[in-house]
Amino acid sequence: MGKLKTAVIGTGFIGPAHIEALKRIGNVEVHGVTSLDVNAAKALAERYSIPRVYEKWQDAVCDKEIDVIHNCTPNNLHFEINKAALKEGKHVISEKPLTLTSTESQELLNLAEEKGLVNAVNFNYRFYPLMQHAKRMAEKGELGDIYLVHGHYLQDWLYYETDYNWRLEPGISGESRAVADIGSHWCDLVQFITGSRIKRVCADLLTVHKKRKRPLEEVDTFKGKEEKTKGGFEDVEVKTEDAASVLLQFENGARGVFTVSQISAGRKNNFWFEIDGSKKAISWDQEEPNELWIGYREKANEVLIKDPSLLDEYARRYAHYPGGHPEGYPDGAKNLFMNVYDFISKGKDPRKDKTEFPTFKDGHQEIKIVEAILKSSKEEKWVEVGS
Ligand SMILES: NC(=O)c1ccc[n+]([C@@H]2O[C@H](COP(=O)([O-])OP(=O)(O)OC[C@H]3O[C@@H](n4cnc5c(N)ncnc54)[C@H](O)[C@@H]3O)[C@@H](O)[C@H]2O)c1
Repeated sequence: MGKLKTAVIGTGFIGPAHIEALKRIGNVEVHGVTSLDVNAAKALAERYSIPRVYEKWQDAVCDKEIDVIHNCTPNNLHFEINKAALKEGKHVISEKPLTLTSTESQELLNLAEEKGLVNAVNFNYRFYPLMQHAKRMAEKGELGDIYLVHGHYLQDWLYYETDYNWRLEPGISGESRAVADIGSHWCDLVQFITGSRIKRVCADLLTVHKKRKRPLEEVDTFKGKEEKTKGGFEDVEVKTEDAASVLLQFENGARGVFTVSQISAGRKNNFWFEIDGSKKAISWDQEEPNELWIGYREKANEVLIKDPSLLDEYARRYAHYPGGHPEGYPDGAKNLFMNVYDFISKGKDPRKDKTEFPTFKDGHQEIKIVEAILKSSKEEKWVEVGS
């Protein structure tokens, strides 16, 4: 099989990260790109020698030459674009959250199943080498029974009432913000490592800035901190959470808790978790991604440094550089895409063959968790996640 041809839709923060990662794997040609910002799409096409710039996303989805669509648009477009792409017979790699509601994610899941097309969600944090190693530790029983799973995901880019982005608008971002945007990564990763799903939640949501100042001109994701708008503001009511704390119960009996926040001063992308088992504990900080802390009661604790020669055999293939040569955020997506493109190139069927990447099924379950969290906070009680 020749190179698979891909189109990337969306050229804001994550679109270029997809393109850059795709350029680092072998069996794919980024054939086209499109976004609302035509100049950004043209600039990316020029920088990365991408032959086509489409006027609109529909042109990418209908291009007969394209095998795979990467959906890097805001959340409200995930359902429509993913659905159209599947209907056109394209494999899809979607950004998270998969959709705005579980009705939509269920429909996508059914459609992907019916079509037998590859469907993936970019839960990229699973593919840091040490996260694959941590999963193998749990699988091999090295952690023992899992007692407790706890942690946080903290950012500060929406700290001030003048910080603004489409994520503040429920019509674009969905009814949940901090939980759906970053809590989704936290929940996905701990479920992936422990191999156990979150089955019940009890949540407390917090909106610090009940009103924010929306710039009259649009601000790109994460740019609000550096580029204050010159075009003036208007006051808008904020309907989604700046932060949340959520108690958890897992299917395997483990208990847990996490806090997410986009208003924690000084915290940039502080994604941290600890898993406490009956044999040992592990913890990891996304901002120090090449170190896995391993805790013991009866002897000195350890820090495992990412080094292929020290990793579990399975995890080793995700570490592309020797010890002491850090790998992090750009490498997670690269590893995930590598697995997806290998799967497609080998002609595998997602309905029958083992998928070593997160699928729409995982994306759907994540939406169910978000919905349960919203319900729990509203009704002030424990809520079952359901399937
Ligand atoms: N996996 C991760 O680590 C990660 C990180 C950041 C963002 N994301 C996800 O990626 C998605 C995009 O986030 P972002 O931060 O890149 O946003 P962004 O605002 O920086 O970029 C959005 C892009 O979508 C384009 N777009 C909007 N409407 C469009 C339309 N109708 N047709 C074509 N293009 C359109 C915009 O022009 C822009 O290029 C979100 O769903 C977000 O949750 C994931």
